[in-house]
Amino acid sequence: MCGIVGYVGPKQAYDYLIEGLFRLEYRGYDSSGVAVHEDGLIQIRKKSGRVKQLADLCEADPLAGTTGIGHTRWATHGPPSDVNSHPHTGGNGEVVLVHNGVIENYGQLRDQLREQGYVFRTATDTEAIAHWVAYELDELVKLGANPTDVATCVTAVEKTLQQLKGTYGIAVLFRDVPDVIIVARLGSPLVVGVGKGEHYVASDASPLVGHTDRVVYLNDHELAIVSADDLQIVHRDGGSQVPNVRVLEQKSEDTDLGEFEHYMLKEIFEQPQSIENALRGRLDDEEATARFGGLNLDPQTLRRIDRIVLTACGTSWHAGLVGEYLLEEFARIPVEVEYASELRYRNPPMSDRTMVFAITQSGETADTLAAMRECKRKGHPSLAICNVVGSTIAREADGGIYLHAGPEVGVASTKAFTSQVTVLTLLALFLGRMRHLSYPAGKRIISHLREMPNKLRETLECHEAVKELAQKYYQAENFLYLGRLYNFPVALEGALKLKEISYIHAEGYPAAEMKHGPIALVDQDTPSVFVVPKCNIYPKVISNMEEIKARGGPIIAVACHGDDRVAELADDVIYVPEVDEYLQPLVTSVPLQLLAYHVALLRGCNVDRPRNLAKSVTVE
Ligand code: G6P
Repeated sequence: MCGIVGYVGPKQAYDYLIEGLFRLEYRGYDSSGVAVHEDGLIQIRKKSGRVKQLADLCEADPLAGTTGIGHTRWATHGPPSDVNSHPHTGGNGEVVLVHNGVIENYGQLRDQLREQGYVFRTATDTEAIAHWVAYELDELVKLGANPTDVATCVTAVEKTLQQLKGTYGIAVLFRDVPDVIIVARLGSPLVVGVGKGEHYVASDASPLVGHTDRVVYLNDHELAIVSADDLQIVHRDGGSQVPNVRVLEQKSEDTDLGEFEHYMLKEIFEQPQSIENALRGRLDDEEATARFGGLNLDPQTLRRIDRIVLTACGTSWHAGLVGEYLLEEFARIPVEVEYASELRYRNPPMSDRTMVFAITQSGETADTLAAMRECKRKGHPSLAICNVVGSTIAREADGGIYLHAGPEVGVASTKAFTSQVTVLTLLALFLGRMRHLSYPAGKRIISHLREMPNKLRETLECHEAVKELAQKYYQAENFLYLGRLYNFPVALEGALKLKEISYIHAEGYPAAEMKHGPIALVDQDTPSVFVVPKCNIYPKVISNMEEIKARGGPIIAVACHGDDRVAELADDVIYVPEVDEYLQPLVTSVPLQLLAYHVALLRGCNVDRPRNLAKSVTVE
């Protein structure tokens, strides 16, 4: 949520800032703004709406200068408007800053500052930080400090941070120090790109791609003093840190749209490849198991584990539900799937034999991070299943498994979901083979997993059929999504996709459970999407379909090729290839992603940037 950029060096800052904001727009798109040092003043341009509107504004009224910061906003405090857009000004323009996070005590800070004569012009929490930095600066100057001295500015920021309750990633410019940006983080990500005689700042590494591949991830309670030739990092508790420079592997082609109209569609079509990437190097034919490089737990500890907690948010939580079924079936270990936002404040009894996995695409979701930290604090091995390399959760976890799905830009998660399910299948195989799972069973799982990229290619052949189907149903105002066992989480995920991008009310339910409430919603205008590939309880799902049909509800089914029984019952069928039951979510989720995509397009919605949402939710 919210994206931050910054540049200091010999080039025009605006060029990187605006390009970076376009790349970070997935983090929030309520408004955006930039600030650049120009002739002893800090010039600001900001605008509600998309980054494109800011770019138009800046084209009409250009900025020139080689030090600057920028921000794209997902509104928390104060509605999206020009005035509430970042950057915000402190004092009389001596401080300008951008912020990602939430300041919980901003009301109290604002009241204190008002008493001191500071005038608030916005409804944001951020303005209180800007004024407080200006206030501290003023106090220091009164005591004789020099405002053109970087050390004075650093002290003003440090003193301000001591006042803040909540989370922040901030980048600050000082009017009287034209070639320095001060950045600091607690809870919200920040990364510094190291160039030749220049430095870049960003909320994640995507804006840095093409500019530098050398990056330094800031940790909580660290503050960095960034100038063209120098990067100094100080920790709240003890002096300077040596910057830990890492090499970024991302390439710019990874985030190009290519032949596709939207990132969501591109990412749906990348799934054969992303699943292949998740499997690469991890199938051990000889031992009939999976191999992981980074779990960082010895076999003895892994064998002692008697309970697994999977914690996540959104789509990742749905992948966790599939993981529960997989791990319990293959490894025979009891699993619970917890919403991270609940787990972080609960105190469930967990023994030292409980292992925790945080599942997250971005590796930055505030609640997932907090839940993982809480579990770590209590001594449970806490690992991550994560896509973004170098993200906060990936760095703080005791170990983990990367998805290697490549950047996911569309706000509605697609390929990350199927990659998470793939990795969870590998994990179930791995832990299963340490326990009850036989060698032949392990071999069978491996050979079926190997077929999945091709099965996904085959599944994507349903695209045209789904497109036609969307035409028939896109005006419906309510949908039910129903499935059982492995396809129950798929039903939840299908409903979530539709809600997220087409704003249609949709509910996912276990198919039999719909008799306990949702069936009351069924009428001729409410389609039920049944996820009904061949499975152990297939006849039961067919009965559930009959129940809907008897009440006049239209039925869309996702079924295996050649399923005549379903064809008879359903109004429309989307066919997918037949795979083993535990692998079905990988194929059955795909037509539901496509359905949501086409329905949203037909309703004129912004598929990649749905209203009110953000890709990376870094506030709780
Ligand atoms: C947001 C995104 C979802 C995502 C969820 C969890 O709500 O819009 O697509 O599933 O966050 O994100 P994570 O990065 O932790 O998987």
